[in-house]
Amino acid sequence: MSKATAASKALAAAFVVLTGSVIAGIITMVIFYKTEISPMNPTPRPTTPPTTTSLPPVFRLPRDLIPQSYEIFLQPDFYTKIIEVVNVTSPNQTMLFTGNSTVSFHCVQGTRAIYLHSDGLAISEPVVVNKNNSKKVAVSSTKNHEYPSNFLEIQLDEALEQGVTYSLFLAFEGHIRQSPYAMFASKYAEGAPAYEGDQDGERFLVATILEPTYARKVFPCFDEPDLKAVFHVTIVHRSETQALGNAEVKESNGIDDDWKVTYFHPTPKMSTYLFAFVVSEFTSTEPSAPSDRVGIETYARPNATRAGHAQYATDVAAKILQFYESHFEINYQQQKLTQIALPDLRAEAMENWGLVTYKEGRLLYEEGASSPLHKEDIASIIAHELAHQWFGNLVTMKWWNDIWLNEGFATYFSIFAVDQVEPSFQLKEWHIMSNLHRAFEDDALASSHPLSPPLEDVQWPAEIEGMFDSITYFKGAAVLRMLADIVSEGTFTKGIKMYLSDFKYGSADQDDLWGHIQKAVDQDGGRTDVAKVMNTWTKQIGYPVITINTTNGEIYQKHFLFNDTYESNLWWELPIRVMSNAPKSSPIWLRSNNKVQKDEFISKKGEWILANVNCTGYFRVNYNSENWERLLTQLETDPDKIPLMNRGQLVDDAFNLARAELVDVTLALNSTRFLRDERDFLPWKLAAKNLEYFVLMFDRSEVNGPMQAYLRQQVKGLYDFFRNYTDSSTVPENHSLQHTQILAIEVACSNGLPECVEMATGMFANWMASNGTNHIPPILRSVIYCQALAAGGREEWDFAWDKFQSSTDTAERDQLGQALACTKKIWLLNRYLEYTLDPEKIRRMDVGPTISSIARNVAGQALAWNFIRAHWTYVQWDSVMLVDAVTRRFSTPFELTELERFGEDYHLGAATMAVVQAVEQTRVNIQWVSENKDGVLQWFESETAS
Ligand SMILES: *[C@@H]1O[C@H](CO)[C@@H](O)[C@H](O)[C@H]1NC(C)=O
Ligand SMILES: *[C@@H]1O[C@H](CO)[C@@H](O)[C@H](O)[C@H]1NC(C)=O
Ligand SMILES: *[C@@H]1O[C@H](CO)[C@@H](O)[C@H](O)[C@H]1NC(C)=O
Ligand SMILES: *[C@@H]1O[C@H](CO)[C@@H](O)[C@H](O)[C@H]1NC(C)=O
Ligand SMILES: *[C@@H]1O[C@H](CO)[C@@H](O)[C@H](O)[C@H]1NC(C)=O
Ligand SMILES: [Zn+2]
Repeated sequence: MSKATAASKALAAAFVVLTGSVIAGIITMVIFYKTEISPMNPTPRPTTPPTTTSLPPVFRLPRDLIPQSYEIFLQPDFYTKIIEVVNVTSPNQTMLFTGNSTVSFHCVQGTRAIYLHSDGLAISEPVVVNKNNSKKVAVSSTKNHEYPSNFLEIQLDEALEQGVTYSLFLAFEGHIRQSPYAMFASKYAEGAPAYEGDQDGERFLVATILEPTYARKVFPCFDEPDLKAVFHVTIVHRSETQALGNAEVKESNGIDDDWKVTYFHPTPKMSTYLFAFVVSEFTSTEPSAPSDRVGIETYARPNATRAGHAQYATDVAAKILQFYESHFEINYQQQKLTQIALPDLRAEAMENWGLVTYKEGRLLYEEGASSPLHKEDIASIIAHELAHQWFGNLVTMKWWNDIWLNEGFATYFSIFAVDQVEPSFQLKEWHIMSNLHRAFEDDALASSHPLSPPLEDVQWPAEIEGMFDSITYFKGAAVLRMLADIVSEGTFTKGIKMYLSDFKYGSADQDDLWGHIQKAVDQDGGRTDVAKVMNTWTKQIGYPVITINTTNGEIYQKHFLFNDTYESNLWWELPIRVMSNAPKSSPIWLRSNNKVQKDEFISKKGEWILANVNCTGYFRVNYNSENWERLLTQLETDPDKIPLMNRGQLVDDAFNLARAELVDVTLALNSTRFLRDERDFLPWKLAAKNLEYFVLMFDRSEVNGPMQAYLRQQVKGLYDFFRNYTDSSTVPENHSLQHTQILAIEVACSNGLPECVEMATGMFANWMASNGTNHIPPILRSVIYCQALAAGGREEWDFAWDKFQSSTDTAERDQLGQALACTKKIWLLNRYLEYTLDPEKIRRMDVGPTISSIARNVAGQALAWNFIRAHWTYVQWDSVMLVDAVTRRFSTPFELTELERFGEDYHLGAATMAVVQAVEQTRVNIQWVSENKDGVLQWFESETAS
C-alpha cells in the first residue's frame, strides 16, 4: 500500500507551520495509519490472547493443509445508476454479493478439521472432495469463530490423509460495503442525467482492497500471506459494466439483458491480500507497451479518460516498469498491468498484482489545471506500487511482522525509479531526506516499535494494521540505504537480485534478506557481518545520536529520545563517514556504547569536522560547541564547502538536539542565520520544517510577533530572488526551483511580508473580478488561494466555496478544499466544520483531511478539537489522523488533562495508540515550552532589534 509521498506530506507540514494557516489537505493529506476498527465490528481485542498451543489454533492457521488454487465465482449485485428511486434519501441499491469458491489444498499432515478464514460471510453447507478418488468426505460440523481469529472451522467425519489433495466447495453471500475496504461500492458523478431528477449523474462501481486481512470478507480463504495460490476467477456483473481482475480477461459473454459473465486467466501464484477486482463503467487509455510482453492501461471515469487525464499515469508507468525490469533483471510476471483511478480507497493506492488501484487524486493529471509539481506525486506513487510487483507480489514477507520488506523496499526503490525516468525533477536528495526525517520523528519516541518486531507482537488484525506506519515505510527505506552504503551499491544490488530470484513466488523473512546480501558481500570479498550489523537497526526501537568531541577525539553513541528521562542502554553497530576539508573515505565503526577515542576526530588547525557525509547513516550527530561554531561559520561564509544534504541535516540535527535538550535552543536558532543568503530548496525546506515546532509551540503566544519579524527578514532575499517570476505569474523551468519559489511565497506571505500579501490578494482579486476566467497558473494556485483566503474574509471564502462546489476538476477542487481551511475567521471555520457532516457538501472520504486542515490552522485548532469530540463516531474512520492533527499544539497542563480525559471517556478504537503518543508528546511540549520560551523570545527579539 502507499502513503502519500514524503514530499507532499512534508511540504504540507512546513506550509502549515510557517503560516499557522493551512495547506495540508485533500491530496497531500494521507491516511497515515490506515488502521480502522470498524464501528460495525467493535469487538475489542483481548489484552492477553489465549495461549493454548493445541487445537483449536490460536491466531495462525495450522500448516497441515496447504492451499494450491482457488476457483472463485463472484457476483456483486448493485446498480451502476439508480433507476427506480423509492425516495431521495433511500435509493434502491441492493449492496449484496453472492459467490462460491472451490479451494484445492494439499494435506501434509492428517487432520479431521479444516481451518481457514471467513469474516461476515453467510456460508452454505460445505462439500469436501478427495481429488484422488473424487469421493466426498462427510462434514460433521462447521463453526465460524468471531473476531479476532475469524476462523471457519470445518470438522469432518473422517481424517484427511497425508499426501492427498482435497477440494473444499463453499457457497457464500456477503455485503458490499459503503466504506472503502474489503468489497465496497463507490459513488461518483459523471455524465448526463440517467433519469428524471438525476442531477449529478450519480454512478456506482464496486472494487476491492484486501490488504492486510480483508480477503476473508470477500471469500473464504487461507488468509495468510505465505499461503499463496493460483486464482481462477469468474465475475458475473451488470451488462453495462466491465470487470477487471488481476489477470487478463479470457472471455466475456452476455448471459441475459441484465448480466454478463467474465472469465479471467489464472493469476500467478500469489497471496490472498493481493486479490482484486473492479466492476465499473470506466474506460481506459490506449494500452502502452514497454515491450511486446506487457500491455499497460489506465482506467478512469469516462470523462477523465476522454480528457486525457490518465495519459501521464500510463506513460510514466511504462517507463518505470522498464526501469525495474532491467534493474532487478527479472521481468514483470504478467502480460498486462492495469491501473485504475477510484473515487475512494482506504489507502492512497494498493499494489494488487496486475490491477493496481489508486485514489483518483493521486493518479490523474490534468494539463492546464494540475500543478506541474503534481507529476512528482503521481510518478512517486506509481513507482512505489510498481516496486511492489517485485517486493511484495513476487516475493512476499512470511508474516506481517516483516511488512517492512514490502514497504521499505517499495519506498526505497521508488525514489531511484523516479529519478531515472524523470531526471528533470531533480529532487532525489530531497525525497531521501524527507523520508529519513519522517522516520526520525516517530522513532525518537519511547513508544516506537522495532522495524521487525517479534512474531508474537503482531498477531491480530488490529496489530497487523498498526504496522503500516512511518517506521515501516521510512525507517525501512533508510536502513536499506544505509546497508547499500555499507556494503556498496553494487554488492547490494547483486544481493537483491539473488533474493528476488531465489524467493520468487514464495515468501521470505528478514533473515533471508540478510543471508542473500551476505552472499553477495562474501562473493565480492567484503567483510561486513550483515545480520550482526543490521539486526541492531531492525530489532530494536529508535536510533542513536553520536557525539564527537573534536578537542580530544572522543566519540560515543546514545539512544536519541525526545524525552530524555527515559533510560536506555541500547547501542548500534554504526559506521561513521567523516570529512573535514578533504573527505575521508572509509568509515570508522562504532560498536558499543562506550566512549572511544580516535585521532581522526581531533580537528587539526581549528578546522571543522563533519560526520555522516550525505546522511547515509540512520543517526544524528552532535559535536562540541567549538566544532558547531566552525560549521555554522562555514555555512554563513561559504556554504558550498558543505554537501547539500548535510547543509540541511546540520539544521535538522541542531533543532532536534535542542528539542531533546542535548544542545541549547539558541544553537538551533543560530543554524538558521545562513538562510538569509541560501537559495537552495533543501536547507530552506528543512529549516521551515523545523521551525514548525517553534511555530506550533509559540504561535498562540507573545513570541509570535518577533518570530514572524525574524522570518520576514530571512525570507526577503529568497522572495526577491523569485520576484520577477512571481509578479508576472510565472515560474522557472526546474522543479527544484519551482518548489523553492512556492516555499518563498508561503513563508513570506504567512509571516506578513507586505509585498507578498499584496501580491496574493491582488492575484486572487483579479481572478474574482473576472469571475474565475482569469486563471492563476496551476502551480501557484495552492499557495495563492490559501494566502488570499487567510488575508481575506467572507467574500473571498464564499467565492472559493462556490468554485469548490461547482468545479468538476479534481485538482482544482483539492486545492480549493485545502485553501478554504486557511481563513482566520472563526465563524467561517466553524461553518466549514459543520459542512463536513453533510456528504452533499464534503465527500465522506474528504472529511478527515478537511478537519485536519482546519486543525492545523492556529485559528481552527481549538474548534476542530471540540468538533471531533462532539462527532467522534462520525469521524472514527479518520480518528488517527485527527488525533494527530488536533493535538499538535498541545503544550499546557490544561490541554494535557483534557486529552487524558478524552482517552478515558471515549471509545478510541484504532486511535488508542495515537492518543498514547499524543499524551507523551504533550508532556514533552509542556516541559519544553516552560524551559525555552524566555530564551527563544529573547533570541528573536535580539535578531530583529536592529
Ligand atoms: C424515505 O425512505 C426512508 C426509509 O425507507 C423513510 O424513513 C423516509 O420516510 C422516506 N422519505 C420520504 C420523503 O418518503
Ligand atoms: C426496488 O425495491 C422494490 C421494493 O423492495 C423492488 O420491488 C424493486 O424491484 C426494486 N427495484 C430495483 C431496480 O431493484
Ligand atoms: C457457483 O456460482 C456460479 C455463478 O453464479 C454458478 O454458475 C455455479 O453453478 C456455482 N457453482 C456451484 C457448484 O454451485
Ligand atoms: C461528463 O461529460 C459529459 C459529456 O461530455 C458532460 O455532459 C458531463 O457534464 C461531464 N460530467 C462531469 C462530472 O464532468
Ligand atoms: C571535549 O574535550 C575537552 C578536552 O578533553 C573537554 O574539556 C570538553 O569538555 C569536551 N567537550 C564535550 C562537549 O564533551
Ligand atoms: Zn506500499
